[in-house]
Amino acid sequence: YGAARVLVASNRGPVSYAVGEDGSLNAKRGGGGLVSGLSAIGSDADALWVCSALSDGDREAVRRGIVGAGPEAPPQRGGGGRRAGEDGVRMLDIPADVHADAYNGIANSVLWFVHHMLYQTPLEPVFDAEFRRQWASYETYNRAFAEALAEEAAQGAAVVVQDYHLTLVPGMLRELRPDLRIGHFSHTPWAPPEYFRMLPDDVAGQVLRGMLGADRLGFLTQRWADAFVACAERFAGGLGGTRVGVHGLGADADFLRKRSHEQDVDERMAALREEIGEGRRTIVRVDRTELSKNIVRGLLAYRRLLEAHGEWRERVVHVAFAYPSRQDLAVYRDYTAEVQRLAEEINAEFGTPGWTPVVLHVKDDFARSLAAYRLADVALVNPIRDGMNLVAKEVPVVSDAGCALVLSREAGAYEELGEDAITVNPYDITGTATALHEALSMGPEERAERSKRLAAAATALPPAQWFVDQLEALRG
Ligand code: G6P
Repeated sequence: YGAARVLVASNRGPVSYAVGEDGSLNAKRGGGGLVSGLSAIGSDADALWVCSALSDGDREAVRRGIVGAGPEAPPQRGGGGRRAGEDGVRMLDIPADVHADAYNGIANSVLWFVHHMLYQTPLEPVFDAEFRRQWASYETYNRAFAEALAEEAAQGAAVVVQDYHLTLVPGMLRELRPDLRIGHFSHTPWAPPEYFRMLPDDVAGQVLRGMLGADRLGFLTQRWADAFVACAERFAGGLGGTRVGVHGLGADADFLRKRSHEQDVDERMAALREEIGEGRRTIVRVDRTELSKNIVRGLLAYRRLLEAHGEWRERVVHVAFAYPSRQDLAVYRDYTAEVQRLAEEINAEFGTPGWTPVVLHVKDDFARSLAAYRLADVALVNPIRDGMNLVAKEVPVVSDAGCALVLSREAGAYEELGEDAITVNPYDITGTATALHEALSMGPEERAERSKRLAAAATALPPAQWFVDQLEALRG
């Protein structure tokens, strides 16, 4: 058996590599809740994170033995930890075509679409021979994870598998290593049975049985946990011995407050202020350019606001950051183009020489996101369906003067933040426009007070504690 006592498995890992011009490898640590959560237990030394190599740099790092390279590789730490990389990371170099089928084809085009209910059902989905081929790759990719985990885990170790990319891993790992404690955590919503059963029966069964191979399943909200239980009861004969629990991942207040006052953020605030102009209110949104985030309807609602409440013209700017995501998929590229087109249209329709109604940026820049958070008078978070949505939790923590939050009732965060947010039906453009008007009109005291309560609720379960809670529940 291997040496790791706590293992995490996820498609995207905590670090990525790029090959520099001189051939050296530059590591970039990933952000996000899971990374900060795990770094808290990283000092355990016996912790290992298993993830996919996603770029040429990552593959090169595997080849050079920096992040584990399988049995052929030279010893890393000596002894039991031989395959673990310096950072307690092992990247799996899954053949690029297999990974593309599993990640783009199945995980992001099928399972993500099912759980976020994104299909335009008259024409989609089509489960044909191509789908079957991709499904076989998804099985291969899941098996590679299960085998690596089985190799690395110490007797009785705890393994926490993350997300829809790896639904088959718990069941496969259970067969290889019955001694392990296996958990699975979903960062997405779960589809209700009527939608889930769109999947071919055998595939739906495999997904559910794969997940039910775990001792414990975690979800971000009760709503998603209930949907999973309903699917398991209807299509898999119930939960068997698997326990289901809810852990509502919160924002990392300490990190955010500190990071958002560093010099690069101040610089970007100054630049943004220039773009926005003196004395104007800001409506801020920050998303991956993701179909489920509903960015287009957000822009339509903003346009409606400018039409219906002309008093806001020249006095408000919509700061929208829509960062590239999953650009291998044509629907994501089209969606990105539509967001850009609509922003330009609104600017052409309403803009004046001194006022740009929509400031849209599409190049990923974390410091600039934090700068926008600090400047936010209103945060707009209107997904059509979202596992949690951490932006809704982060803006109230960071905003300098407190912000009003316009929040979709379909975001997981709604369960925790619904009371102090202005909530919307994400499909309702006029309703969202009215909510934006209400948010902009809120008095400064009420806004500050609500924002304080939002920030408190948003930080109730910081990432490190979120992870520890999962482990304790798994062992308990
Ligand atoms: C969601 C998923 C994560 C995923 C992230 C970014 O939050 O739950 O598993 O990593 O989106 O998507 P990407 O496809 O870039 O990893």
